[in-house]
Amino acid sequence: MTQESKESFRPFVMLIGGMVVLIAFAVMMAGLIGAKPKVEDEEAVNNRIAPVAKVELAAAGAEVAAGDRSGEQIYQSACMACHETGAAGAPKTGDKAAWGPRLGQGLAGLLKSATNGKNAMPPKGGSDANEIELARAIVFMANKSGGSLKEPVAK
Ligand code: HEC
Repeated sequence: MTQESKESFRPFVMLIGGMVVLIAFAVMMAGLIGAKPKVEDEEAVNNRIAPVAKVELAAAGAEVAAGDRSGEQIYQSACMACHETGAAGAPKTGDKAAWGPRLGQGLAGLLKSATNGKNAMPPKGGSDANEIELARAIVFMANKSGGSLKEPVAK
C-alpha cells in the first residue's frame, strides 16, 4: 500500500472508529437503564420487615389487647418512670411511709386520683390504660408498698 492510499483511508477509519465508540456507548446506556432495580411489591416488603415489626410490637406490649394488660405491664410501661425513682415527687414504689396515708383512701380513692391526675401526676399517668388496667397497676404498686388491695375483676 502506498503512502497515498493509506492517507485516503484515514477518514474512513476514523468514521468507523467513531461509530464503534457511539454504539458501545449506546449499549452501555441501555444496559444501565435495563438494570434499574426492580420495584418490590408491597407484600414482599411487608413480609421482609414483618419479623422486625413483630418484635417491636411485642416489646411495646401491643400484642396484648388493650384491657388485657396486667398491672405489672401497665406499671412498667407507664408508671415506673416516676414511681420507681420518685421523680416529680411521686410516692416511690416500695416506700411504705409515702404510701401509708394514701392507702387509707382505698382503691376507689386511689383510682379516682390516678384517673383524674393529682398535682404533678398526669391523668392515668399519661397512659392509655382503661379503668381496669389502671386499677390493676395501682394494686400492683400499692401492694409492693405495704398495701393489701384486691385486684378488681373485669366486668
Ligand atoms: C409524670 C410522673 C408520674 C407518672 C408517669 C405516674 N405518676 Fe402516679 N403520681 C405522680 C405524683 C407526682 C404523685 C403524687 C401526687 C400528689 O399527691 O401530689 C403520684 C401519685 C399517684 C397515686 C396516689 C394518688 C393519691 O391519691 O394519693 C397513685 C395511685 C398513682 N400515682 C398511680 C399511678 C399509676 C397507676 C401510674 C401509671 C399508670 C402513674 N401513677 C404514673 C407522678 C406520676
